[in-house]
Amino acid sequence: MQRAHGRGTVVGRTVAVMTTGGERRRAASLGTFEDARRRARKRLPAAVFDYLDGGAEAELTMRANRAALEALEFVPRMGRTTGPADLTTTVLGQRVEVPILLSPVGYTRLVHPDGDVAGARAARAAGTIFTLSSMAGHTIEEVGAAAGDAGWFQLYLIGGRAGAEDLIDRAKAAGFRALVVTMDSQIPGNRERDGRHGIKFPITMTPRTVVRLAAQLAPRPGWLLRFRKGGLAFDMPNSRRPDGTRLSMGEAIGSMTAHAPTWADLEWIRERWGGPVLAKGLVTAEDAKAAVAAGVDGIVVSNHGGRQLDGAPASADALVEIVDAVGDQVEVLVDGGIRRGSDVARVLALGARAAMIGRPWAFALSEGQAGVERVLEVLRTDLDRTLRLLGCPSVADLDRSYVRPAPHR
Ligand SMILES: Cc1cc2nc3c(=O)[nH]c(=O)nc-3n(C[C@H](O)[C@H](O)[C@H](O)COP(=O)(O)O)c2cc1C
Repeated sequence: MQRAHGRGTVVGRTVAVMTTGGERRRAASLGTFEDARRRARKRLPAAVFDYLDGGAEAELTMRANRAALEALEFVPRMGRTTGPADLTTTVLGQRVEVPILLSPVGYTRLVHPDGDVAGARAARAAGTIFTLSSMAGHTIEEVGAAAGDAGWFQLYLIGGRAGAEDLIDRAKAAGFRALVVTMDSQIPGNRERDGRHGIKFPITMTPRTVVRLAAQLAPRPGWLLRFRKGGLAFDMPNSRRPDGTRLSMGEAIGSMTAHAPTWADLEWIRERWGGPVLAKGLVTAEDAKAAVAAGVDGIVVSNHGGRQLDGAPASADALVEIVDAVGDQVEVLVDGGIRRGSDVARVLALGARAAMIGRPWAFALSEGQAGVERVLEVLRTDLDRTLRLLGCPSVADLDRSYVRPAPHR
């Protein structure tokens, strides 16, 4: 497919999506994050569910993400506003209909064969932004075509500088609008649930693994069927050697670990990319200042959903520290534990430009594009309701006067 694009001509392939009528019907009744999680648990083999659901080690940080949000109570104002709230804003100059963006999630083809293509289409339909992981199962070009103007690309330095430059060039040519450099993944975190399933990082879904997981797969023939239909795809189509051949998953992870980005790398990355750059995975004011000094345009406050350093600060706490330090210089986004529209309102009130979600869309993806569309619709409706009950006319009006520590939580 060839089409005109803001950055020039984009060459991408249209991928046939496999969302079924059944998925659409089921997605329509999805009402909360917990619904999406419960259904994913029912539909996915336990190892895949735990890959999504789990955090590092004792999962302290993963739980702290929720606790920090729940520890904030609202300060509502009565008798002021009527009618729908204005949820629109801009993020790095890009207009979004709702300040809820999709965080990068690796290996989503394990959840549904449409994977990131479905995520990108759902984000675009909702008027928001999809971030494609470097660890994707679809090609950059396929997802770029699906995302249109609504795509950002998340960068790991797979293949070192040369490999990363190849990823950057392709993401740029495919029309992605911003580059998100993940800084918190020097090595993969210790996700003990994966280990309990006998799966060592990196996960490799070979036919042998499938046999080993037979007991989990037997009650879920639907998943196996979809996974087969999707071509048992579990390779890393975007990571190439200089001769064009693909890296295996193990090689990709090994190489990413060997080339964790430093602040110094941001210079050539920014230069090569030539567009907006965000640093993702920061939880301290000190690092936020280093990122600003390195010339980033935005920061994603994140502890990787509690999947990397267990014991790292909760996202909402880190958000306050980082907004106070650099919020007047760059846009600050945040992810980790956002489950309802009210959570989005909380982080916007603390100073985030927008919230990002990982697991909510990843779980909903078990029902394909329709599931992701529905989760975004639910969050949007929740956010509108929260603002109206707060007496706040728009997301732009949310500030810290709308939240305070809850004394009883
Ligand atoms: C299954 C899974 C895979 C992930 N893969 C990536 C990745 O490839 N790159 C990245 O920067 N972050 C990755 N993340 C982290 C998310 O981008 C995001 O920071 C996190 O999920 C936010 O927390 P939440 O899941 O509570 O919303 C992943 C998260 C999950 C759950």
